[in-house]
Amino acid sequence: MSTSLARSPLPDDQIAVVRRLLTGATAEQRQWLSGYIAGFEAAADPRTAPAAPIAAKLPLTILYGSESGNAETLAAQARKAASRVGFGVKVLDMADAAPADIARAGNLLVIASTWGEGDPPQRAEAFHSALMAQDALRLDGLRYATLALGDRAYARFCETGRQFDARLAALGAQRIAELVECDLDYKKPATGWIDVTLRTLADRANPGAEQVDPGAAVIRVDFARTAPAEAEAEASDDAPRVVVAEIAAHINLNSSRSDIETYHLELSLAGSGLTYQPGDAIGFVPRNDPALVDAVLTATGLTDDPAVHAALSHRLDVTTLTRAQLADYARLTGDAALRNTAEDDARAAEFLRDRQFVDLLEAAPNRLTAQQLSDLLRPLPARLYSVASSQKAVGEEAHLLIAKVDWESHGRARHGVASSDVAMRRRVGDALPIYVKPNPHFRLPADAAAPLIMIGPGTGVAPFRAFVQGREATGASGHTWLFFGARRFTHDFLYQLEWQDWLKSGVLSRIDLAFSRDQREKIYVQHRMWEQRRELYAWLRDGAFVYVCGDVKAMAKDVHAMLLAIIADQSGCDADAAAAELRGIQRAGRYRRDVY
Ligand SMILES: Cc1cc2nc3c(=O)[nH]c(=O)nc-3n(C[C@H](O)[C@H](O)[C@H](O)COP(=O)(O)OP(=O)(O)OC[C@H]3O[C@@H](n4cnc5c(N)ncnc54)[C@H](O)[C@@H]3O)c2cc1C
Ligand SMILES: Cc1cc2nc3c(=O)[nH]c(=O)nc-3n(C[C@H](O)[C@H](O)[C@H](O)COP(=O)(O)O)c2cc1C
Repeated sequence: MSTSLARSPLPDDQIAVVRRLLTGATAEQRQWLSGYIAGFEAAADPRTAPAAPIAAKLPLTILYGSESGNAETLAAQARKAASRVGFGVKVLDMADAAPADIARAGNLLVIASTWGEGDPPQRAEAFHSALMAQDALRLDGLRYATLALGDRAYARFCETGRQFDARLAALGAQRIAELVECDLDYKKPATGWIDVTLRTLADRANPGAEQVDPGAAVIRVDFARTAPAEAEAEASDDAPRVVVAEIAAHINLNSSRSDIETYHLELSLAGSGLTYQPGDAIGFVPRNDPALVDAVLTATGLTDDPAVHAALSHRLDVTTLTRAQLADYARLTGDAALRNTAEDDARAAEFLRDRQFVDLLEAAPNRLTAQQLSDLLRPLPARLYSVASSQKAVGEEAHLLIAKVDWESHGRARHGVASSDVAMRRRVGDALPIYVKPNPHFRLPADAAAPLIMIGPGTGVAPFRAFVQGREATGASGHTWLFFGARRFTHDFLYQLEWQDWLKSGVLSRIDLAFSRDQREKIYVQHRMWEQRRELYAWLRDGAFVYVCGDVKAMAKDVHAMLLAIIADQSGCDADAAAAELRGIQRAGRYRRDVY
């Protein structure tokens, strides 16, 4: 044992840890450890051999809750892998499922993202509430595993996946593998999770399976933190196609006297073959603010390293600050005050509030090596923007509408990474590598005569410009009604002339405007909806499709509450009946939201 350890790639201090662990361990403990390490490796390596084919078709339900399609894509990937090794697979979208659908599934894989501020994806809300209800069905006899998708930048990381995982166990289902929580670079851990869970289920279907140690299925995922998001996406099968678009127009649509800036970008797709549909989004990986990159390099003593400079500028996330980074940096620097903060939930939360990575470095300045710095940082994630154009109208172009995000905290001016990159550093003629993120749940109805109610204050109006362009280009006959809101009529009425032209030509049937700061009391789109409630309900009864786009924190909730109030008021029913009616409209695909 000592000879092989001496030849191991481990440094001395880790060799000492291994020696301490193994000295005095029983045979059973050593066996468990070897199983654990095998499970850990399999989870981290997507190329691990697939589970062995099984004799009889084992039923497997894959249940997903998804907002922007990641969990949905993984469910499809899991279906393919499971079918290949002989499972009888059924894939269920939580939007179309009830707890009764999984009660007798036998084997269940749950893949769920978290949205809003620790909320389930909207289309999974009804399923989530039904499962959390006090009188939810017991799920004894069900074997399951959960994969949670999230983003460590959010305080309630992977909250929905955690809730599902705990609730299924509380309802009597048997967890066959530990919950795996994924950050934005989820592909590798998710692929490992699919393989390990399928292998575990397959093992259990074989004779003697009961003797399998459940501990062997426990996997922990070390999120690949240094791989650039684009390179990783390119390496995988379902990686989006990235094309380099030229910025053909870059215009601030707000007046020079406005206190906000919203940029209309026109991207040339000439010769790229890239296509999109109204409702889809376009993504790109931004570049970090050079001043912030310099501040990080200065704080770590790495100003002279061009490779680190390049990585920090284009590939690594230098703004997000997470609890894990706080703990890692405290450990790395041995700073006692930071360690005390990191170890206390309330103090850690207080420290993290409104701070960024640079604040952590400056709280306890220390020289770091390039490797230590890059180990602390995650890949720089892409940002998504709704397309504001229809290719039926603009051909080989894509238009975006991007609001510049600025705020101040802890005495420092902060800038949103992507929006300020576009607003302050990109110009006409620049190249922007982009990809299309399709959103099949936010498309125009197939029926060109169906009436549309579009509620999109601020940048939420972007997809509706695409919808109306599309309807104009195809000569669609359906009525269209836009609710738009912003701060001031004279400074912030985005695409004003276009809406007025469309009203004149009849492509837009109605527009209702809410400018919050043009009078003493704040007026928002939901107030205009209430004023127009009779007409709005008549449209709903007429089969109108309701689309909501924009702010998830306040607007989407207020608009939802207003729709319920309008239904209750107009049909004279109580709150439960109004909720049931809106759920029915949603199930029929006539209430769609794209909120962020
Ligand atoms: C499907 C989809 C479509 C989208 N479409 C559009 C669109 O059409 N137009 C558009 O402009 N955006 C759109 N977004 C949002 C967009 O992707 C970005 O999130 C947004 O531009 C901010 O990115 P950023 O890199 O500039 O800011 P980031 O660097 O990501 O910073 C934003 C973060 O900063 C923090 N922050 C912001 N303001 C404050 C404050 N006052 N106090 C404290 N902290 C604060 C918050 O944590 C916030 O999440 C869309 C998002 C999605 C998911
Ligand atoms: C507006 C918005 C809100 C989000 N809120 C959270 C959150 O509260 N917690 C979290 O862990 N992840 C959050 N995320 C990250 C998503 O869960 C993550 O992007 C996930 O991969 C999306 O998967 P989906 O496409 O299947 O919905 C949020 C993402 C967006 C765009």
